[in-house]
Amino acid sequence: MPNDRRAFLAALGALSAAGALAPEAWAQARPSRRGTRALAEIPRGLAASDDILLDPTLTYLQTGSLGPTPRPVMERTVAVWKELELDPTSNGYGPLEQQMEVVRARAAALVGCALDELVLTRCTTEGLNWVAQGINWSAGERIITTDQEHPGGRACYDWVARRFGVALDVVSIPPGENNPSAIIERFAQRITPKTRAFAFSHLLTSTGLRMPVAELSALARRAGCLSIVDGAQAVGGVAVDVHALGCHVYATSGHKWLLAPKGTGLLYLSRDLAGRVDPIALQSGREAYTASSGVCSLPSVHGLAAAIDYHTAIGTPRIETHNLALGRYLWNALKDVPKIRVVSAEPGPLASPLLTYELPAAINAGQLHRRLLETHRVLVKVVPANFLNGQRISTHLFNTERDVDALVAALRTELA
Ligand SMILES: Cc1ncc(COP(=O)(O)O)c(C=O)c1O
Repeated sequence: MPNDRRAFLAALGALSAAGALAPEAWAQARPSRRGTRALAEIPRGLAASDDILLDPTLTYLQTGSLGPTPRPVMERTVAVWKELELDPTSNGYGPLEQQMEVVRARAAALVGCALDELVLTRCTTEGLNWVAQGINWSAGERIITTDQEHPGGRACYDWVARRFGVALDVVSIPPGENNPSAIIERFAQRITPKTRAFAFSHLLTSTGLRMPVAELSALARRAGCLSIVDGAQAVGGVAVDVHALGCHVYATSGHKWLLAPKGTGLLYLSRDLAGRVDPIALQSGREAYTASSGVCSLPSVHGLAAAIDYHTAIGTPRIETHNLALGRYLWNALKDVPKIRVVSAEPGPLASPLLTYELPAAINAGQLHRRLLETHRVLVKVVPANFLNGQRISTHLFNTERDVDALVAALRTELA
């Protein structure tokens, strides 16, 4: 093991043993290429600068993959873990279990549904898997989905297709088209008497396009179909009201835009589903712990409540406005950067805190990603090649114009 890695682990171990993961110590214990700047020097958007525990040398534009958990959320998670370990059985099946119902209630309020419509999960993928496995499919039935789904929102339907002989009708959404009417029309054209469900994302993982969820859900309902929405990229970054969207199912993750502990998620199941989705895990009820769901990560679930409190204290509308304003700033700055083509929707009703640009075929998005990180300490996402040769930027509550400037300057240097 290299010396610096050993020293890093030793430092973390000592801090943990002391029960003190103070943000400064945490950040300074991390290996970095350029030394550290004092956390207080770094503006953190809507967050207090010492709440964000990112490596101070890193410009982090990757919340769409995993968000950085803020200090108060991490502290609450660790505090609950310590409480749990004082007497795991009495606490884990006692007060800490009961308090998870408060977490569920907060999660339900966050997305605008009733307590009995909300289930806690480990992630978006798990929620969608439960739903896909909990439907009584028949051979010959059909699901309409899109060619822009993340594997976490697609694998379950591929399984349904193999297992039950259900067919998938895949609507194409070419990156850069950004035309909701065309998308709705394509869904409408694929409806057949055998269509059982629409399955699509709220914000596309590839380009961040805001899908017309309310219109597609209404269309699905008129056709007697289920509307199943993958909201992994939405909750925490933009306001979400599942009743207003009108879908039957909405799954999301806590560990992206909500900045909650990794391995947390929410699943909305509308009341009017009335047994049409009947997952094994929910046979004994929808509480966080039941006989059919088993034990979950109690500290993480309690940390999820702290993350929801963190968001609520700042205010979701404020967060969304900040994220979109930064997106607009980025969109304008990228117009003058050579060789790239922004494929995300222009600032306006279809835009989201995710922005994607396409690179010419001669430029390898993965290699550029490495140079941005290693030379400039800017972290972006490489968009999977099946969507396009490009990169995706996430702008969240802790990002600032300075982060965007750092990215744009790095791109200008690398693409010159
Ligand atoms: C649209 C979409 N769905 C699902 C996922 C999978 O998320 P998780 O691993 O939290 O289930 C992602 C992750 O990036 C995503 O972007």
